[in-house]
Amino acid sequence: MSARISGVDPMLSAKMQNAMNDQINAETFSAYLYLSMVAYFDDLNLSGMAQWMRVQVQEEMTHAMKFFDHMNERGGRVILEAIEKPQAEWDSPLAAFEAALAHEQYITSRINSLVGLAGEENDRASDIFLQWFVTEQVEEEANADDIVRKLKMFGAAPQALYMIDKDLGARVFVPPASAGAA
Ligand SMILES: [Fe+2]
Ligand SMILES: [Fe+2]
Repeated sequence: MSARISGVDPMLSAKMQNAMNDQINAETFSAYLYLSMVAYFDDLNLSGMAQWMRVQVQEEMTHAMKFFDHMNERGGRVILEAIEKPQAEWDSPLAAFEAALAHEQYITSRINSLVGLAGEENDRASDIFLQWFVTEQVEEEANADDIVRKLKMFGAAPQALYMIDKDLGARVFVPPASAGAA
């Protein structure tokens, strides 16, 4: 891949550029996976869970754009790859949220690998940039885990499922403060 723009030496190593391009793909796939869950919950008439996942889709796109902007700011070259087809059906709302939790754990492992690479490459700016994602992933896992626990405890009762769905429908998208500053 091209590691140069208009004759300027990139401040990101080729290795880091490849890894960040892969992460743009992973974050965009996250959005796509959660959008597939929106469709699943809409189909079940669970509009609160669908709304919760809609917000999740927006968050994942801001994650992808953070990497996109960081690469641009550092003289890197963003290369977009194909997005994998997401799963379309789950056995239950609980199974869908368990899949979301497992996916967030996978993303956390990817972020940790990127932090490791930033260290190896002595890339301090990327290391600082990635700290936002380290913190974000703690929240992402905790949010999904909280819903999984609630569904495991109460989800079998229709009235409880109705209340959980209503509760999750209150979620609104809040754009991250100073996206460029992370
Ligand atoms: Fe993300
Ligand atoms: Fe996420």
